[in-house]
Amino acid sequence: MVDASKYVSERARKFRASEIRELLKLAEGKNIISLAGGLPDPRVFDKERLAEIARRVVLEEGDAALQYSPTLGVTAFREALKGFVKYHGIRVHDFDDIIVTTGSQEALYIIGRALVNPGDIVVVEEPTYLAALNVFKQYEARLVGIPIDGEGMRTDILEEKLKEMAGRGEKVKLLYTVPTAQNPSGVTMSNERRKHLIELASKYDFLVVEDDPYSFFLFEDVKFDFLKTLDDEGRVLYTSTMSKILAPGLRIGWVLADKSIVNVLELTKQAIDLHTPTFSQYIVKHAIEEGVVADTASRARELYRRKRDVMIGALEEYMSDIASWVKPIGGMFVMATLNNDKIDTKKYLTRAIEKGVAYVPGKSFFVSEDKGHNTMRLNFSYPPEDKIREGIRILSEVFRE
Ligand SMILES: Cc1ncc(COP(=O)(O)O)c(C=O)c1O
Repeated sequence: MVDASKYVSERARKFRASEIRELLKLAEGKNIISLAGGLPDPRVFDKERLAEIARRVVLEEGDAALQYSPTLGVTAFREALKGFVKYHGIRVHDFDDIIVTTGSQEALYIIGRALVNPGDIVVVEEPTYLAALNVFKQYEARLVGIPIDGEGMRTDILEEKLKEMAGRGEKVKLLYTVPTAQNPSGVTMSNERRKHLIELASKYDFLVVEDDPYSFFLFEDVKFDFLKTLDDEGRVLYTSTMSKILAPGLRIGWVLADKSIVNVLELTKQAIDLHTPTFSQYIVKHAIEEGVVADTASRARELYRRKRDVMIGALEEYMSDIASWVKPIGGMFVMATLNNDKIDTKKYLTRAIEKGVAYVPGKSFFVSEDKGHNTMRLNFSYPPEDKIREGIRILSEVFRE
């Protein structure tokens, strides 16, 4: 057997297994209510129609669909995607281009690889999406966290920070945000703050990554502008995914951004995986055109709204005196903050698992060392309704012990 440590690169030496993942392994194979995951409910998948499309694609378009394809994506699929995002009210500029990615996780990875030098300042919401933090950490960004409240990122605090940094001659390279139904907090940024953010991006000359997996199946009729729509200068890189509105296993995401940026993303992606699976692109093209995506999104909206209501109802019933949260208008998560800020939710996870429920301790979604220890992320999209209620009841017992 070889000793891998002798050969591992300096870069990979810095990769750390997540402590939380290790803790959550305790829950594997047990009959546990998991509020820790982030999976869609498989009941939203349209298996019959996807099977029929897949068969048709192989038999009728197989010569191309089973073949290598361009790094940017299959041309006809990119056109279909552009139509899809336009239909959802996202502005596509003449100077924009679209690149298909292997899920939006790859989009974040190539954005980090293409744009971030070690030491570059990347601003994120606090809390934010963990896997995005991991990407920016791998590229050795200097992460600056900006707190959020019920209206999303506190752009007033961002402005102060930007002034302060500019005073020291420091410049922000990019800002990463999940402005709509955020993972992990469930919060949606108000329109006023969206406008403020875009003004600040222009004034302080940085790029904005708008990561938007959730706006296609919101539970309420809320009006807001996409950051991409508010931006006239090509500063916003809009990324989204078919994972929540069709099937994550197809691994289809995309980035819509200024051509000059897409060009660099294309070069970066080429060395990683040549292209996103051609077969998936053909399937998703038909799924968009034949209404399968719209129907899946609509099922997700109905089902997750019900499940959200069950989770919020249970939180109100069992935990309203010990915790607070923002009721999400979409997405798959609620973040609960315990009133007692001495509590570290990580320390309670083993006990919670023993009692039959798992959650994700919130600390790892935060950049600042001293924040988030009394928070936890709770998923409502995957567990059955009765388990959601029971899970919250058990959690309330755990945190009262
Ligand atoms: C905010 C956010 N961004 C990106 C992703 C990655 O999704 P995928 O790679 O499946 O497109 C997720 C998945 O949960 C997410 O919540």
